This record gives sequence, structure tokens and C-alpha cells, in this order.
Amino acid sequence: MDQITIAVAKGRLQEAALELFQRAGFRVPSEANHSRRLLVEDESGRCSFIFVKPADVPVYVEYGVADAGVCGRDVLMESEAEVHEPLDLRFGRCRLVVAATPESAARGYNPLAVARIATKYPRVTSNYFQRRGVPIELIVLSGSVELAPALGLADHIVDLVETGRTLRDNGLVVVDTLAESTARLIVNRASYHLKRAAVAGLISALRDAAGNG
Ligand code: PRP
Repeated sequence: MDQITIAVAKGRLQEAALELFQRAGFRVPSEANHSRRLLVEDESGRCSFIFVKPADVPVYVEYGVADAGVCGRDVLMESEAEVHEPLDLRFGRCRLVVAATPESAARGYNPLAVARIATKYPRVTSNYFQRRGVPIELIVLSGSVELAPALGLADHIVDLVETGRTLRDNGLVVVDTLAESTARLIVNRASYHLKRAAVAGLISALRDAAGNG
């Protein structure tokens, strides 16, 4: 059977993703979670894993450097990558929200001004505000977005909420939910056909392990 390469998003989803692969019959070496190695071979010999930044997972999969990948729906919404998305893996549940200080949330958007919005999700954010006819100035950050309102950098933010702790600890409240997100399996379009047996085996093993019949 063809060997496949699987790109896994580092950080929030990594541990749960590797647990799922383990339940699905892969033999993920423990160094995958405990070392800084970015490429590890599965001990079953069926695949190798590479660990990359979440936003890069669709890029590696689209270009075929990885045959498959695991990342959040939030990342896929922001990406324009052309990949198959055969499976909702049902973990990493979170929401993509607009948030603000309680005062800004109560004031709403000023119809006479351009709202400044800080986010790691420029495309999703632009689409959301465009649909509502709210003119915005985007401030694109790559993390710690919740700091922006307190520092006067932005009126609102668009970011992920999982437990709600980061928002709470930074004095912010949810204004609106843009989308719900969970981890997804994505597959390279060519690999889907050229490595059909290995990819079909991967999808069916993960579907069973994720309880997603
Ligand atoms: C994510 C997200 C929020 C936080 C939400 O950040 O961007 O900041 O987690 O989680 P919570 O609702 O459980 O508090 P991440 O840890 O990925 O780091 P980042 O700030 O670098 O984006």
C-alpha cells in the first residue's frame, strides 16, 4: 500500500489529533507530542506525520507535499486552498466570533465611521462585514488579538473562542458568532485518486475512531 504523509496543525489540535490517529490504529511514536521533531514516521509504516502551523496545513495539502491534513474549519474558511474535505473529526469544537469591550458592544457600529477590526482571519472578517454593509479597516495580527481593544488598536476583534477564558480575562464579550468550527480531515485532490486505497483506508479508520458514521 502507498505510504501517505499527513500534515497536522501544531498547537490547540495536535494532541487530540494524534490521539484520534492512535485510536484509528496508527502507531504514533510518543516523540510526536514530546519532542520538537517536525517529521515523524508512524510505527505502523502506513504514514508519516509533519507538524506545521495551522494556517499552513491547507497549503501543504493543496500542493501535495502532504496527502492529507488535519486543521480547523476556521482555517479552511480563511484559506482558498482547493482540497477535498471528506470528514468532520468532531474535536476541537470552538466558535469564530466578533468580540468587543462591553461598552463598544453596547454602542454598536458607528454608521458615520469606519470600524477598526483586528483579526487573524482577514478574508472571513471582510466577507462578514461586507455582507452587513459595515465599512471596516482591517488590522491583521498573527496572535494575541484580544489585546487590541484594550490598547486602542481596534474597536472589535474577530477571533476563536473555545472555553471563553481569553475573552473574559481580557474584559471582552461576544457580539456575534460568525461560524462554528471543529477539526477536519482534508485530502489532496490528486492523492485522492492516485493513492486511493491508502486514502480510503485513512478516511474509514478515522471516521470509525471519530464516531462519525
Ligand atoms: C486561540 C484564540 C484565542 C484563544 C481562545 O489562541 O485565538 O486567543 O485560543 O481560547 P479560549 O476561549 O479557550 O480562551 P491561540 O492559543 O491559538 O494563540 P494565539 O493568541 O497565538 O492565536
